[in-house]
Amino acid sequence: MTDPSLARILVIDDEKDMLETCRKIFSLHSYKADTAERGEAALSLCQQHHYDLAIIDLKMPDMDGMEVMKRLLQIRKDQLIIFITAFASVESAIQAVRGGAFDFLRKPFKMDELILVVERALRFKALQDENQRLQRGLQESFQVGKIVGKSPVLQEALIKLRKVSEVEIPVLICGESGTGKELFARTIHANSRRREKMFLAVDCASLPEPLLEGELFGYEKGAFTGAVQTKRGLLEVASGGTLMLDEIGEMPLNLQVKLLRALQEGCVRRLGGDQERPFDIRLLCATHRDLETMVNHGSFREDLYYRINVVRIDAPPLRERQGDVHLLATHFFESFRSKVSKRLEGISAAALLILESYDWPGNVRELRHAIERACTLTESTHIVPEDLPPSILAAVEEKETVTSSSDFARAKREIIEDFERKYVARMLSHTAGNVTEAARLSGLSRPAYHRLMSKYQITSSTFKN
Ligand SMILES: Nc1ncnc2c1ncn2[C@@H]1O[C@H](COP(=O)(O)OP(=O)(O)OP(=O)(O)O)[C@@H](O)[C@H]1O
Ligand SMILES: [Mg+2]
Repeated sequence: MTDPSLARILVIDDEKDMLETCRKIFSLHSYKADTAERGEAALSLCQQHHYDLAIIDLKMPDMDGMEVMKRLLQIRKDQLIIFITAFASVESAIQAVRGGAFDFLRKPFKMDELILVVERALRFKALQDENQRLQRGLQESFQVGKIVGKSPVLQEALIKLRKVSEVEIPVLICGESGTGKELFARTIHANSRRREKMFLAVDCASLPEPLLEGELFGYEKGAFTGAVQTKRGLLEVASGGTLMLDEIGEMPLNLQVKLLRALQEGCVRRLGGDQERPFDIRLLCATHRDLETMVNHGSFREDLYYRINVVRIDAPPLRERQGDVHLLATHFFESFRSKVSKRLEGISAAALLILESYDWPGNVRELRHAIERACTLTESTHIVPEDLPPSILAAVEEKETVTSSSDFARAKREIIEDFERKYVARMLSHTAGNVTEAARLSGLSRPAYHRLMSKYQITSSTFKN
């Protein structure tokens, strides 16, 4: 029930008059209400219908109200309970509320009192249901990963991601730095039948050849100077789970040959060892390089390329999905806000405009860092342009200058400036020239407010009485 007016109510009382009164009151207010004289009858009604609220008399001859509540809650645990009770047993009504009832009413009560309590309960129930619905939605979307974005290019990638999660084919994820390649890989793993097993990522770009070889294939004690003890390679360690070879384009040719052999045979031999050890991994590879060109130039092995690139998924750069910037910025803002103690309420429209105008060479990662930095630095409740990294502000300003000859850009700027000028003046007039108060009401810091005032040559003295 997310609309309180559609609620269904059950009233349980051994006094027939009481039931009659309630029925009348509820029908006057267009609520659907059923009645029961005994606990047993109420339970059987509850088995048949879905009640949002039960109103129970605390003292009844066969089964007392507390027992009825307990049994009703066993049938539907999200049902709300209101007790009605004679003045003498208020103590036990308080006990009942402690035991999980929503509220209680003392007999005799007026019609208005009953309706007031019922409306409050139903509003609460509606909120509770809405909350649960949202949470279920969140859990469902969590299944496809914490991937935020509605742009068609991203959605296209997500459709592929979902498809390949279910089948165990090698996937090559291509995209610029910070576009979410690792997030994609983790999402595939989280939705595959290996989700309970390990997900391991190794960055082929960060290790020199001998170390990378040791990491991937493992070594026996004494295989080389420094091999003081036996080490299992990641192909063995990740067995049963998913292995992500990140930046596979940086893997030296020698290792490419060794990797291909291991993948074809499903066995790995540790350095300095002679035993073939079987492994079972789901392989996901990622790169920011154009592997096809590398194959043409002979710097990436063609046979390995075809082996790892059964399905290719592109993580699109952020500048090609400008529409996602707003959603991502809000997403990072919300998750950062929950970690800090200061009061943060939102991202100002002016800051959002700048975020949306920027090209994001560092993609989603750069956006995330910009938001986290702004949340840390801001002196007001809203993120304002001044809280964004100077490099971003400068780049956007330069871009605007270049494109400001366009009618659209000019019109947009004029509207914003007009709005800012009027807003600053209106707030100052409202506070009779008190800048601190005007800044507070606007959710801006005092220095930010002063900057706006000087931009539009507005002086506070004009507004003093
Ligand atoms: N669509 C998205 N929704 C939410 N968060 C995202 C999204 N895309 C990327 N991120 C976040 O951005 C950051 C960078 O993503 P990730 O590490 O997956 O990128 P990458 O492509 O692997 O980068 P690199 O090439 O630099 O390794 C991470 O914090 C990730 O959670
Ligand atoms: Mg990565």
